[in-house]
Amino acid sequence: MNIAVYPGSFDPITNGHLDIIKRASRVFDKVIVGILVNPDKKGLFSIEERKELIRRVTRDIPNVKVESFTGLLVDFMKERDINVIIKGLRAVSDFEYEFQMALMNKKLNSNIETLFMMTDAKYSFLSSSSVKQVAMFGGCINGLVPDEIVDEVMYKMHK
Ligand code: PNS
Repeated sequence: MNIAVYPGSFDPITNGHLDIIKRASRVFDKVIVGILVNPDKKGLFSIEERKELIRRVTRDIPNVKVESFTGLLVDFMKERDINVIIKGLRAVSDFEYEFQMALMNKKLNSNIETLFMMTDAKYSFLSSSSVKQVAMFGGCINGLVPDEIVDEVMYKMHK
């Protein structure tokens, strides 16, 4: 079975993330969305909440599973016998950071391949942090995150 992991913080999932997940699910037999548990960064949503939001917006894609991991991504992948990492690339500015991570993961496990998907142009400006910033100052986040989670993001930001 051809399995890929799509790792990230997903705090919260955006339409850009969802676009990559949908496209990857057409290329691979199974896509595991891997949410990094980062003890140094509390985040807006807890890991369980992020998981629930991603499960909700991917519920119609049967070959997508959502899990969380701590520590190194390569260890998470080894435990599940996964060799492919999918990443979205928005702009040249993403490249350097992604290139460094891809090479580090390769150094840690030479069997691992990182594959990049170009983000759809209409999401090229989008990130979880910009969504949070817009929401924080009362801007409209419709079209930036999946419709099913707009209210929850706004509520969480202002409670
Ligand atoms: O959405 P993000 O925050 O850009 O995702 C970053 C992520 C989770 C993909 C990256 O930080 C990661 O893989 N962290 C796990 C730790 C690890 O494996 N580090 C080695 C590669 S530098």
